[in-house]
Amino acid sequence: MIVVGGGVIGLGIAWRAAGAGVHVVVVDPQPGRGSSWAAAGMLAPVTEVHYGEVPLLRLNIASLQRYGAFVGDLEAASDVAVGYRRCGTLLVARDRDDDAALAETLAFQQRLGLSVTRLRAREVQELEPALVPSVRSGILIEGDHQVDNRSVVAALTAACLKGGVVFEKHSAVRVEADQGAVSGVRLSDGRVVPAGQVVIAAGARSSEIAGAADLPVRPVKGQLLHLRTRDGRAPVTRNVRGLDVYMVPRPDGRLVVGATVEEQGFDATVTAGAVHDLLRAAYELVPGISEMELVEIAVGHRPGTPDNAPLLGPTSIQGLIAATGHYRNGISLLPVTVDAIVGLLTTGEVVDEIIPFSPLRFSPVEQPL
Ligand code: GLY
Repeated sequence: MIVVGGGVIGLGIAWRAAGAGVHVVVVDPQPGRGSSWAAAGMLAPVTEVHYGEVPLLRLNIASLQRYGAFVGDLEAASDVAVGYRRCGTLLVARDRDDDAALAETLAFQQRLGLSVTRLRAREVQELEPALVPSVRSGILIEGDHQVDNRSVVAALTAACLKGGVVFEKHSAVRVEADQGAVSGVRLSDGRVVPAGQVVIAAGARSSEIAGAADLPVRPVKGQLLHLRTRDGRAPVTRNVRGLDVYMVPRPDGRLVVGATVEEQGFDATVTAGAVHDLLRAAYELVPGISEMELVEIAVGHRPGTPDNAPLLGPTSIQGLIAATGHYRNGISLLPVTVDAIVGLLTTGEVVDEIIPFSPLRFSPVEQPL
């Protein structure tokens, strides 16, 4: 079996499939250095919920419920700690307009039966004293978590190597097929690696691979900042979100500030405007960030789809399986994606959870002549 793409989704599938006795080859010129590396690692589906995305929210919640067990297994298999923390998220209203938006968000979340708590300004301030004193209100989502996504990459890579996964550090150029069934993958060096099952987990690059069922994935650029305190203590203790910025504190004192959402193709330029906008939005919530060191500006390309939801399951080509298009949710959807795709690979069954996310939902309907 071949997994095209060595981000967290591809590596996770490779690790678990190898553990189930499957011979696995991962094809990626730079495993773990795409959007999995750029991500912030915030596991906060409840705060990212949007109207009309309820099935996606349910999938995210199902994934979050499995996170503890997933990272427990991963840390045991790899000997790499992944910084999984049940830290919660504080959604903050800075002014009257934000406050009205938060009230709507809260009502929507409560209608869905989600566990969220509305907080007054004083309560918000008590929870996170570094927040600007003029904060008007907040919503606390205690169920949100975070993980250090770069450590997850390291852990999955180590677990794959220990499990006998083979890495081909080349680009996948084409999925080869014979009479409608997958027969292998052609690499950028011209070789063809044979396989009867191929998983496309190439994130934003998934639509560039010839013969891969024309998966409707496009790159959505994100720029993020990494700030650091000198004393190794981040100014906030939990994920903090304003309406236009999020901050994810790491135990080593880093604060990841994100993120832009830009339709710029694969452009990877760091722009002054993005840095300015992110710093300004973060500063307006946590003024103390102005004292922090700016240590890194990360750029990634989210795999966006027409409805912001992933492409999971069989495609129109026999043996070709999609595990891509996770857009803003690649880190949080990791356990549920891995379970579903490895189950499909080993038993042939499509679990109910992923039926709404079939890649075939975008196929053009054949019209009678
Ligand atoms: N999920 C965070 C982001 O896409 O920026």
